[in-house]
Amino acid sequence: MNARQLDRKYFGRQGEPEDVVVGHSAGSYLIDSRGRKYIDFMMGWCVGNLGWGNTEIRAAARTFDGPEYVHPNYLYRPWAELAEMLAHMTPGALAVSYRTTGGTESVEAALQIAMAYTGRGSFVSIEDSYHGNSIGAMSIGASDNREKFKSLLPNCHKIETPLDARALGKVETLLKKRDVAAFIMEPIICNLGALVPEADFVRGVRKLCTRYGTLFIADEVATGFGRTGTLFACEHFGLEPDVLCMAKAITGGYGGMGAVITTSKIAKAIKGRFGMYSTYGWHPRAVAVALANLRYLSAIATRFSGTPTRWANTFLRGSPG
Ligand SMILES: Cc1ncc(COP(=O)(O)O)c(C=O)c1O
Repeated sequence: MNARQLDRKYFGRQGEPEDVVVGHSAGSYLIDSRGRKYIDFMMGWCVGNLGWGNTEIRAAARTFDGPEYVHPNYLYRPWAELAEMLAHMTPGALAVSYRTTGGTESVEAALQIAMAYTGRGSFVSIEDSYHGNSIGAMSIGASDNREKFKSLLPNCHKIETPLDARALGKVETLLKKRDVAAFIMEPIICNLGALVPEADFVRGVRKLCTRYGTLFIADEVATGFGRTGTLFACEHFGLEPDVLCMAKAITGGYGGMGAVITTSKIAKAIKGRFGMYSTYGWHPRAVAVALANLRYLSAIATRFSGTPTRWANTFLRGSPG
């Protein structure tokens, strides 16, 4: 059987695959099993932000010589180094990272952090947004998920676009009841065709969240690590969220990994009530690649911006120079 026939018989998918049997990837190209070259406009959908096969990052993947696996209850220096790096790269007072294996798990963890911290159970999100595939993530995603899956989380309210003054008024009406654990959105909504909300909406929601004791979760799984022209899309609005979700481009495609980061204050308050076990979260090999990827990203951001950013300045160790 050829690849297509094997795929059809054994591989679970939502729809029909493209007619490309991928052999290799290099720079901006995919090379198929017959050696034909395609420009890869998809780039893994917010994964290969630096292109494929970057020499420094590939070297980190190939030369990794650390432990096969580290149990979550042990200490592992590269975990702490990556967490420190994320604390410096992300906006505002975000400081404490939890390990995950990908975006859905990061979002799920963020919802749990908000529930543990606030003691509340309702959520507000943007109608038709996408935050992943778990029951929690689908509950805060498009309302029509409820037609496919009958028992999603209750009390998940959706704000219709456009995200303007009227939408802000609706957010306030919901938050005023003081039962909303978190408001969650992508700061630039990739999953609604790169929808850019009005800055007053984003800043207004931030203020309302603070006023009514609701956490602001920024889902930067797709927008993070340079996708929108700043390191994180929050920076376009000067937004300092309480929780920020990451995945996809954190390793540039070399390993499944995600992270959720929150403030020291929140992390301290939920200690003992929230913790991600995540067997394969931050696998040592993926961490080595993530560190190389983020150092490289720091170096080019510094080169292009001319003025080293706070995080780049601190973490240029081992960069391409
Ligand atoms: C904004 C956003 N959040 C969460 C996810 C889920 O990430 P993953 O596929 O790594 O579980 C995605 C995936 O496309 C996404 O775009």
